[in-house]
Amino acid sequence: NKLAILGVPMDLGQARRGVDMGPSAIRYAGVAGRLKKLGYTVKDYGNVTVDNGTAQEETHGNLKNLIAVTQTSRRIRDAVKTMLEDNSFPLVLGGDHSMSIGTLAAMTAHYNNLGVIWYDAHGDLNVPATSPTGNIHGMPLAVNLGYGHDMLTQIGTRKLKTENVVLIGVRDLDEGERAFIREHNMLAFTMHEVDVLGMAAVIEQTLAHLAHTDGIHLSLDLDALDPMYCPGVGTPVLGGLTYRESHLAMELLAASMRIVSAEFVEVNPILDERNKTAEVAVALIASLLGDTLL
Ligand code: ARG
Ligand code: MN
Ligand code: MN
Ligand code: MN
Repeated sequence: NKLAILGVPMDLGQARRGVDMGPSAIRYAGVAGRLKKLGYTVKDYGNVTVDNGTAQEETHGNLKNLIAVTQTSRRIRDAVKTMLEDNSFPLVLGGDHSMSIGTLAAMTAHYNNLGVIWYDAHGDLNVPATSPTGNIHGMPLAVNLGYGHDMLTQIGTRKLKTENVVLIGVRDLDEGERAFIREHNMLAFTMHEVDVLGMAAVIEQTLAHLAHTDGIHLSLDLDALDPMYCPGVGTPVLGGLTYRESHLAMELLAASMRIVSAEFVEVNPILDERNKTAEVAVALIASLLGDTLL
């Protein structure tokens, strides 16, 4: 019943400033207290050091802040490894989604056959050649599958398997990402499938697809939800998941007892309305970790 919190005040993986304040916003929204109430022994490891000062570095091809993202990712990896060694559930707060390179590097090293749920409006499956922006937050899932710049793919030792990943909430993919999903026959529940099947069936099928894995990591980008609920994100996309659907998803995942780690990312307080997005993050975190209405 030990839970470890790590903040990643990183904004290097994308172009809009402010997402580095996401961990503070989620902490101010009361995440630790909420989890203590649920009976967890909570240890906050503080924030990982982010090399925001090196943001002036030359661009490597089209990749922005490659060296700083690489260094930060290594630190995230090592911090999450420490949490796992302490038998704690790692809860990582962001920060832009490039942080997932570090989180998953630690998780795939610890589990032989990790499953991942990518709850996001985006696929984050770009590689340097397909990225329209050069923003590394559009690449972390590809990196963890072993595709992308060497400096990034070398951060983790064991790669994630395409058949161990499920995307939920997808509605904005670049051409290269569509090709990647098709080529690798990845399971993706776009908004179309969520509408047709309903979230309960989506989670049921997700868990069935990942039944052979030895643990499931949830990577939740707040932009998976509609901007009506989560305006404080850097890349909002209309037509997103609702607050209720997302709570249902978290509750069903909690009931499955299969989730071994989670990250909540892309909270940008500068773009937010009165910390609304961070408050949604805390509410979803609580549901994922066992909070119920009765
Ligand atoms: N696909 C776009 C890109 O590569 C957007 C990525 C958005 N990613 C995110 N983690 N919010 O730039
Ligand atoms: Mn996204
Ligand atoms: Mn796009
Ligand atoms: Mn994302």
